[in-house]
Amino acid sequence: MRRTQVGIVGAGPAGLVLSHLLYRQGIESVVLESRTREYVQERVRAGVLEQNTVDLLTDLGVGERMRREGLVHRGIELRFQGRGHRIDFDELTGGRAITIYAQAEVIKDLIDARLAAGQPIVFEAENVSVHNLEGPRPSIQFRKDKDSEPEELFCDFIAGCDGFHGVCRPSIPNEALTVYERGYPFAWLGILAEAPPSSEELVYSHHDRGFALLSMRSRQLSRLYLQCPGDENINDWPDERIWQELRTRLACDGWTLTEGPILQKGITEMRSWVVEPMQFGRLFLAGDSAHIVPPTGAKGLNLAVADVRILARAIAEFYSSGSCGLLDTYSDTCLRRVWKVQRFSWWMTSMLHRFDSDNAFDRRRQLGELDYVTSSRAAAQSLAENYVGLPME
Ligand code: FAD
Ligand code: DHB
Repeated sequence: MRRTQVGIVGAGPAGLVLSHLLYRQGIESVVLESRTREYVQERVRAGVLEQNTVDLLTDLGVGERMRREGLVHRGIELRFQGRGHRIDFDELTGGRAITIYAQAEVIKDLIDARLAAGQPIVFEAENVSVHNLEGPRPSIQFRKDKDSEPEELFCDFIAGCDGFHGVCRPSIPNEALTVYERGYPFAWLGILAEAPPSSEELVYSHHDRGFALLSMRSRQLSRLYLQCPGDENINDWPDERIWQELRTRLACDGWTLTEGPILQKGITEMRSWVVEPMQFGRLFLAGDSAHIVPPTGAKGLNLAVADVRILARAIAEFYSSGSCGLLDTYSDTCLRRVWKVQRFSWWMTSMLHRFDSDNAFDRRRQLGELDYVTSSRAAAQSLAENYVGLPME
């Protein structure tokens, strides 16, 4: 039998950043992760860090490699009708920027630093389950591996940082939660290619055949996405078909797409999803376990980090003063940001994608919106302040 102050389920961005924030305040935690260390460090996912996220990682002392290897971008391009239009973050937000640094690299840095500090992460934890959530001493049951005896970890609080398919949220009675959701009739096909990025900055392209996005992971690696039908089979997309479609959708006068060997490809579903409240008794949900945004605008990871920042502050207040004030308002505080980020991600998705149900009016309206956003300073500024990250509470 063991005990800790905070039991953290999941070693994704939410769980690992939380463990560092707590450690800095002298609060003990144990992180339990069902996958191997290699798996969580190699998973290809997000790549855009908001200024807030960069500042926090730096502050936590895990930003050294990010500062060396990350690419700082001060704008993005919106492309439509074959022309590009730059949104200048620097000028529109008073000098704020984003950093391109892969989620997998963030995870590596967070794991290295936690293990170097001698703090526990249990990888490959089996049969993880959470109990007594409404009492003063919740617990997490798990096995260290398939052959070992079940263990029980008693905690003051449990942080459910185990993503959309985790066990924490489903352990809360249905009647205690309300779900808000919206699906999209399309997905993103993403590739990682060994090719120097064809543009300095990210390009979001609206095209009659569907959306395309040019992003990158480094000066040698491009990350590209294509809107595709929701039920698409990746086997129907040989490399040449992907490049052909990217060339068509990203086409722009005087610009060519750099191609190279495709190292990885996959399809990502798109949905907007929120559960309220983000707390049940002493279980606090954070990140993808409580909400999912469609990827347009790159907010998923950043929102997960914003949640745990609020949670760490609330837990620290509890230990320093005995007050539950910030814990009681945790869910409401997070949800104010969550809904603003949901709005932004839905809006970027709606403006840039092709919806088959749209009629000719809707298509002209979409172009009108893109023209507005790229020609009005007020509209461009609204996009920019959301993209670089709204201020923290
Ligand atoms: P996660 O990163 O999902 O971490 C949860 C962790 O919990 C995982 O390590 C998981 O293995 C673990 N876990 C699950 N169940 C258990 C259990 N029972 N016991 C113990 N551990 C458990 N966002 C963007 O902004 N841009 C993108 O391009 C982008 N691409 C994505 C592509 C894919 C395929 C996916 C799935 C997501 C993508 N996202 C993207 C979203 C972004 O990666 C997530 O929002 C972010 O990872 C959320 O962090 P998290 O810590 O809340 O959850
Ligand atoms: C990336 C993902 C996004 O969802 C986005 O809007 C921009 C970039 C990326 O994976 O690089």
